Amino acid sequence: MILLYSATGNTVCVARQLGRLLGEEVVSLHEADANRLKGQQRIVWCFPIHSWGMPKAVRGFIDSLVMPAESKHIMVCTCGDDIGMADYQWRKALAKRGATGGAAFSVQMPNTYVALPGFDVDSPEVVSLKLKQAAVRVEEIARAIYADEPVGSVVRGAFARVKTGLLYPLFMRFLTHASRFTVNDDCVGCGKCLLAKCGYIELKEGRPIWRHERCNMCMACYHSCPRHAINYTRFTRKKGQYLANQ
Ligand SMILES: Cc1cc2nc3c(=O)[nH]c(=O)nc-3n(C[C@H](O)[C@H](O)[C@H](O)COP(=O)(O)O)c2cc1C
Repeated sequence: MILLYSATGNTVCVARQLGRLLGEEVVSLHEADANRLKGQQRIVWCFPIHSWGMPKAVRGFIDSLVMPAESKHIMVCTCGDDIGMADYQWRKALAKRGATGGAAFSVQMPNTYVALPGFDVDSPEVVSLKLKQAAVRVEEIARAIYADEPVGSVVRGAFARVKTGLLYPLFMRFLTHASRFTVNDDCVGCGKCLLAKCGYIELKEGRPIWRHERCNMCMACYHSCPRHAINYTRFTRKKGQYLANQ
């Protein structure tokens, strides 16, 4: 089984390609529960990297269930550049729930993090290059999974321990407040931001409101808005938007 979490669609593309190559069903994390996971021979966890670690939704999912110890757990994550020690974090979280995390792989995809100065979406040239390379990389990963290779391959980047051990908790604590999302008068109430599927946004009188305490900070609402009317602080006003072509 391919267990999928994605905010802006990159990981959907990767999970679907993997599913086709391995002949495995892709199941969304939102539709999975303990019963669905039980008895699976292999679970391939597909999710994006958020601040050199797991997205809140993936962490929450693992923490809420007893994981099937009989399954082989494999991680395939997507990232803009590098993942730090996210695979260690994933293994540790699984171990706490009674399962053993095995091989981990990363795939570079177009970047979706734009909320701090210095971060923006990739240029169209970089997007197209990354997508071409990713398709080849996923084939490579599928072969490794099929051959049951115990060791995966990830791009850790520089200062990997500091990024996951120190920056990740700081990011989750201080830089994921949905109260910093704003919507301006360009909003036409089209509701495309609800496609973010996080379930934490609703339309009130034709405008989005965020349920502050539970936002995943996945940025899907920001990227989905056809009018660029949604912003996360002033830093995103001049930033680009990106949604994967699924
Ligand atoms: C909140 C947030 C944090 C991110 N942090 C990282 C990161 O630490 N390293 C990285 O390479 N990419 C990072 N990214 C980029 C995403 O991991 C990447 O674009 C991913 O492919 C998005 O997948 P999705 O479209 O399936 O959500 C981040 C994106 C978001 C929204």
